[in-house]
Amino acid sequence: MDTLRFSLPTEVLSGPGCVRRTGERWVLGRRALIVTGRHGAEASGALADVTATLEAHGATWARFAEVPENPDVAAVYAGVRAAEGCDFVVAVGGGSALDAAKAIAWVVGMEVPEERFFRMLPEAGDRVLPVVAIPLTCGTGSEVTPYSIITDHVARTKKNVSCACLFPRVALLDARYLASLPPHVVADTALDALSHAIEGAYSPRASRFTVALSLEAIRVLSPELVRMAHGAFVNLAQLQYAATVAGIVIAQTGTGLVHAMGYPLTYYRGIPHGRANGVLLAGYLDFMGRTCGDLTRRIFEALAVQGPDEAHALIDAVLDGVGATPEAPTEDELMRFTREPLRLELVRRYRAMPSPEEVMDIYRSAF
Ligand SMILES: [Fe+2]
Repeated sequence: MDTLRFSLPTEVLSGPGCVRRTGERWVLGRRALIVTGRHGAEASGALADVTATLEAHGATWARFAEVPENPDVAAVYAGVRAAEGCDFVVAVGGGSALDAAKAIAWVVGMEVPEERFFRMLPEAGDRVLPVVAIPLTCGTGSEVTPYSIITDHVARTKKNVSCACLFPRVALLDARYLASLPPHVVADTALDALSHAIEGAYSPRASRFTVALSLEAIRVLSPELVRMAHGAFVNLAQLQYAATVAGIVIAQTGTGLVHAMGYPLTYYRGIPHGRANGVLLAGYLDFMGRTCGDLTRRIFEALAVQGPDEAHALIDAVLDGVGATPEAPTEDELMRFTREPLRLELVRRYRAMPSPEEVMDIYRSAF
């Protein structure tokens, strides 16, 4: 815990209008591949800012707008085919668009064959196309991480492609782009950010410095979650700040058990990523509190709750407030999910290794 190990090669620029104001920092080549989902880039105003700034700096662009939620290898390679002649990538969207963009930049630069996508560990190298990340949600943190989460239909879960070469070169944060987000997406992504901050704090790779960042993110998220629970307006700039700080945490520590357990809920039940994590958090805090009491108390303090029951009530109220309480899986499904996350490497690296029964308990407590 006292060992300091920290790397953040991403330049983070933020504030209203930062995309148009800082073109000289992020127009990194002659032709950009703009990677987006199907809707948010236009509605948010981000796409217009990006294309105007590219053109003002003499760059041309192509657009790949077909990134689905939870992108798979086929989506990545569709993007690769659109990248002909491009020498950098501008990702505009939520976690799916950002993660797909990083994978496209890696595949194009390193000439990764499709059939070897999950087998070929990303190698550090200057051939990976530089990525500029413009998040349009307030949860993923992908704008400051070296991870690309891609769905593997063979393993029937999401997999993490990770390499220092996948850190975006520049992240541009303009909270005005979040104004068009539906409330349930704001809630889901805020819960994703909260789970990044909490899982990162418990990671064996956490340091005092990253724990301080985790607690900072949790402290900033707490009043916003309370506002969501009451249906009040939230401060989107605060949520965006907390999401990026929590992203900086997991860039150092990785995620943990909640993400491992959440992936089957997303893959099999279609529960959005952040919501899947959110419902698991209180049971996870309860479990971790048994082995990491002091840190758990500091997390509850930062979240301004007394314990796991209050944390559960807050998260339930956030999801109820946006009509997004997920339906409970059956016991049989939970048994299957319990086998799957336990297989994952990241659980083996975890500070407190839960038994299958303890994993089942966390799942049961979520619904
Ligand atoms: Fe996440």
